[in-house]
Amino acid sequence: MTTVSSAEHTRRDFLYIATGAIGAVGAAAVVVPLIAQMNPDASTIAAGAPIEVDLAPVAEGQIIKVFWRSKPIFISHRSKKEIEAAQKVDLGSLPDPQPDSARVKPGHDQWLVVVGICTHLGCIPLAHQGQYEGWFCPCHGSVYDTSGRIRQGPAPANLPLPPYAFVSDTKIRIG
Ligand code: FES
Repeated sequence: MTTVSSAEHTRRDFLYIATGAIGAVGAAAVVVPLIAQMNPDASTIAAGAPIEVDLAPVAEGQIIKVFWRSKPIFISHRSKKEIEAAQKVDLGSLPDPQPDSARVKPGHDQWLVVVGICTHLGCIPLAHQGQYEGWFCPCHGSVYDTSGRIRQGPAPANLPLPPYAFVSDTKIRIG
């Protein structure tokens, strides 16, 4: 009796573990193509060549990070609310005044592409954080808005814009 019960217990454990393993493999299989698609290979980064980024998998409200010339580049798929928040700001209130329209490509208001390096001392700001729901730099408290403009804290300037262009409606080339 004890033997049967023990065997059943063991089989249940095995089934549970096997199911868990399949789940983990399945999740990895989904994530890997996305990363492979969004990140250039090491030789491209080392060469500093332009990189192309497919924006199609980036959901509205999502911010991804890619690397170009070893620098983190944030690509934000802005929601209507985030775009409106960026556009309605009184430029006179900004430490580094710049209209949102000068920070995006014409006809592509939903895409903000910035260098993800804080203009204070070079930390990497955290996305979707801070009072203006753009980025927050945890090093000394600089706060950026949904246009990547500095709004509070010691950083002297907006997050820089890398050179980039749309090569199709859903693809950009950086560099
Ligand atoms: S490095 Fe970002 S606030 Fe100092």
